[in-house]
Amino acid sequence: MKIKQLLALGVVALTVFSLNAAQATNDEIKNRIKPVGNVHIAGAVAATAAAAGPKSGKDIYNSACAACHAAGVLGAPKTQDAADWKPRLDEKGFDTVWQNAVKGINAMPPMGTCGTCTEDDIKSAIEYMVEGVE
Ligand code: HEC
Repeated sequence: MKIKQLLALGVVALTVFSLNAAQATNDEIKNRIKPVGNVHIAGAVAATAAAAGPKSGKDIYNSACAACHAAGVLGAPKTQDAADWKPRLDEKGFDTVWQNAVKGINAMPPMGTCGTCTEDDIKSAIEYMVEGVE
């Protein structure tokens, strides 16, 4: 009888111990993830801050516009392709083409989906895209 009681106590103790161990593991994992998450967020903020500095038209183009404009995806005028750009520029003029890029036109998303771009950034990117066209 005493041995059985002792065994039962042992089982309870083991169960409690393993529950605690599982709890500790969860907390441990949370703690392990936390610093990594913080570092990651800090890194992203640093990258955004760096990206918010002065950017060249080419940089903006490469990060936000090339995906569509390099190959002419969805009918996008191809970068530095006179046949694609000249008719647009002749017909509408640079400022209208620029404003269309800011507001979006047909399959061209507003600001080319560049959330960190200013209207002047868009202008620089377009200037890069039409370089040598005229
Ligand atoms: C999702 C694809 C996509 C992205 C990304 C994109 N464009 Fe476009 N863009 C288009 C398409 C498609 C058109 C053609 C729209 C039309 O005239 O029907 C276009 C047209 C334009 C035009 C001509 C507008 C006009 O009035 O003729 C300009 C300027 C332009 N894009 C600038 C940009 C700039 C600058 C970026 C990056 C900041 C950018 N685009 C990113 C798809 C894209």
